Amino acid sequence: MKVLVATEKPFSAKAVDGIRSRIEAAGHTFALLEKYTSPEELRAAAADANALIVRSDIVDKALFDAAPELKIVVRAGAGYDNIDLKAATAAGAVVENTPGQNANAVAELVIGMAIMAARNKYSGATGFEISGKRIGLQAFGQVSRHVAALAKGFGMAVSAIDPYCPAQAMADMGVNTAESLEALYAGNDIVSIHIPATSETVGSIGRDLIGRMPKGAILINTARKEVINEAELAEILADRPDLKYFADVKPGNAAELTERFADRVFFTPKKSGAQTAEANLNAGLAAADQIVAFFRDGTDRFRVN
Ligand code: 3PG
Repeated sequence: MKVLVATEKPFSAKAVDGIRSRIEAAGHTFALLEKYTSPEELRAAAADANALIVRSDIVDKALFDAAPELKIVVRAGAGYDNIDLKAATAAGAVVENTPGQNANAVAELVIGMAIMAARNKYSGATGFEISGKRIGLQAFGQVSRHVAALAKGFGMAVSAIDPYCPAQAMADMGVNTAESLEALYAGNDIVSIHIPATSETVGSIGRDLIGRMPKGAILINTARKEVINEAELAEILADRPDLKYFADVKPGNAAELTERFADRVFFTPKKSGAQTAEANLNAGLAAADQIVAFFRDGTDRFRVN
């Protein structure tokens, strides 16, 4: 079988070598496309591929049409909103993700952003310490759980809300369950967003929620830009000169926000949460192993379609 790793944002060389050796050791053929610049390039590379490993790369109907031999696509990472699941199913392809493999890397970035915001981007202006402050986690999946553990190490009070997670799982980690989403935003000095982008969540965080945050609060988004109502974010940042927005998922109106609120917003130039040697290796090798297992005996434990 031909396994193509197609990553516009490449994995580390060590991760690529590891993927290659696992694929080849199982008797498959390895192919690599990195830093490609157009969907056409991806479609051409995938034309005869039987399996595909991607990151945030767009895998749409046009790609499935151009790659009729594809049996499995593994998103080496957590969020799979970049993959058209309907088109995959119609094409008879299995889609999987690698949950948890890059969670610690993203969580460390959340804490890094919290400190960077609390210290006013290291400008020298008096900031505050995160120890003793309250952090609220919107959703309590793998990234959130790592954030919770790290935040507790910093002496923060941690609360969370997640309709899909029992309160006991939070209690087991010493995390309080917020009474409502509104209460989460109103009751925390820092809120960190960890919801996926779905039809229910897109545009769901706007003036109403952000406006409830206490004075001097910081909103951190390492999840997806689509969950923010960007026009309302701009409005509330204008109305509330005490609020900050730090994101690893650059908003559509980043230029405007940076121009208007330079001291209070920060966006990574390229999504960097999962961009560590460790996360690349964890997610890349997991993706390779999942493909090998799938072709060996049909194992599809992490299937999402
Ligand atoms: C994920 O969903 O796993 C993260 O957003 C990381 O995405 P990336 O692989 O494109 O860095």
